[in-house]
Amino acid sequence: MCGIVGYTGPKEAYPIVITGLKRLEYRGYDSTGVALLNSGLKVYKKKGRVSELEETIVGKDLHAHTGIGHTRWATHGEPSDRNAHPHISVSGKLAMIHNGIIENYAQLKKELDNKGYTFSSDTDTEVLLNFIEDIKENNQCDLEEAVRVALKRVTGAYVILLLDSDNPDTIIAARKGSPLVIGVGKGEHFLGSDASPMLEYTKEVVYVNDYELAIVRPDELILKNLGNEKITPFVTRLDMELAEIEKGGYDHFMLKEIFEQPSTIHDCLRGRLDANAGTITMSGIQNNIEHFKNARRIIMVACGTSWHAALLAEYIIEELCRIPVEVEYASEFRYRNPIVNKGDIIVAISQSGETADTLVAIERAKENGAIIFGVVNVVGSSIARISDGGAYTHAGPEIGVASTKAFTGQLAVLIMMALKIAKEKGTISDERYTNLLHELDAVPEKVNTILKSAEDIKKIGLKYKDASDALFLGRGYNFPIALEGALKLKEISYIHAEGYPAAEMKHGPIALVDEKLPVVFIATKDSYHEKIVSNIQEIKARKGKVIAVITEGDEVIPGMADDVFYIPGADEIIAPMLSTIPMQLLSYYVGIAKGVDVDKPRNLAKSVTVE
Ligand code: M6R
Repeated sequence: MCGIVGYTGPKEAYPIVITGLKRLEYRGYDSTGVALLNSGLKVYKKKGRVSELEETIVGKDLHAHTGIGHTRWATHGEPSDRNAHPHISVSGKLAMIHNGIIENYAQLKKELDNKGYTFSSDTDTEVLLNFIEDIKENNQCDLEEAVRVALKRVTGAYVILLLDSDNPDTIIAARKGSPLVIGVGKGEHFLGSDASPMLEYTKEVVYVNDYELAIVRPDELILKNLGNEKITPFVTRLDMELAEIEKGGYDHFMLKEIFEQPSTIHDCLRGRLDANAGTITMSGIQNNIEHFKNARRIIMVACGTSWHAALLAEYIIEELCRIPVEVEYASEFRYRNPIVNKGDIIVAISQSGETADTLVAIERAKENGAIIFGVVNVVGSSIARISDGGAYTHAGPEIGVASTKAFTGQLAVLIMMALKIAKEKGTISDERYTNLLHELDAVPEKVNTILKSAEDIKKIGLKYKDASDALFLGRGYNFPIALEGALKLKEISYIHAEGYPAAEMKHGPIALVDEKLPVVFIATKDSYHEKIVSNIQEIKARKGKVIAVITEGDEVIPGMADDVFYIPGADEIIAPMLSTIPMQLLSYYVGIAKGVDVDKPRNLAKSVTVE
């Protein structure tokens, strides 16, 4: 969480920093600030969005060729002007921004308290900044050395950017556990939590690794480890265009991303799936095929929507590959003492590739000798880099906080994985394999068909927008989609929603059912259809309002449900990729009707880099 931007070079720093912050607002948006270094430090910061800061500093002196900026997702200290970054050291000479959490900040603060330091914020960042300054003064060393010494004492996660008024064109940066990208231009450098702030200036970037420190000047980039040894920066070429991170005529990124799915799923399948030839080309799987074929089990770790993708993958892999799959919340897995043995396969699923819980979970598993397979969207992200093998979802930048196109990309990759392993292992018949390949190939077109009926789901959503609660029910392959539907509605409309296996509903949640409760059934034609029809009857008998996502041609459910939404027919393994689309649209339209900022709903951040 939190977005950081930096620039040093011949251009004006402020416009680059402020534009970069707007692109990084998905990472947190409760306060904003910039520090500009010209003749002395100028710091402007404020509670609220980037645009609010921008309005309040019109007419101020913003001239500088070096600057840093921060958009915050609060951890230590409520969102407020005083807790906004950048923070200024006691001497007034250093300014720092930070993404992450300094876990031992209380101990460091105590040491500084004893030396008479006082603090003007409640943040761990201000503590670290003054700790660095204290070392600089006591050790009579330069800032770079002070940062190195300080970071050896720090536990937690961080990316920090520091300005020193005694060194007007230099930014000192360091990273552990939170992302940092440095863009290399001609006589200029850009820094960011991701590459979006620098896209129009350079395509050459360096991904900084954990425990590395960067000294960044207009015409110089020095990378070192915390032992003060130089590291040669590894320059990568970005495969991303500016248009991909713009709204392109849509009102919201979320809507744009929902509507992009026919092409993002197509991009994910392209070059991998050849239905006519009967092949799936996935080098990450092929390189590890013996491990997968002989795996005694696969453990999947993920959070949020990515966890729902993992749950669906469990059902599919167990069905097609006959390999036991365990699905773990990364945040639980990392703190308990899980049994992970050498050679175990851990599949880490993450859109951002930066989720702290998932990252640490796989680091622990890797230490135990597990093979890490990453299913990640953001190219070059931390999880992608730590993985032994993997497959990108190729959904392109997902800016809306709610995961939509990344989710269907994850499902496409996981289904291809399952099919490839099953084929290699001989656990799937040729006929079923061929059929599923064609079914998967047809998904982009079927998603397109669903999107053409978006207005129908909008009408249904508007009928229920004032509900205070909602239930989402599904069975089998549609159960993870029920969970995902409930999560989407919660985060985008603030309506309390629960996802349940439809049959489990009678073991408790049915007590909630009355004539006001909307119950969304994901009830496509599959092997559970008759059973879910009975569950719908159970809800109707208690006067609940039934909204059902059903398969075209279903003649049973329309007679029972209050509202239905049709999706094209598909094999039951593939159908969840379709049935999730109405769930996304439903939450979007309800959220909009309720006046929620759907791209940046309250309290959330796109990239959760704190635990
Ligand atoms: O980047 P990741 O996929 O690792 O993120 C995991 C969750 O934080 C994420 O899916 C979150 O639940 C989304 N806001 C859901 O829409």
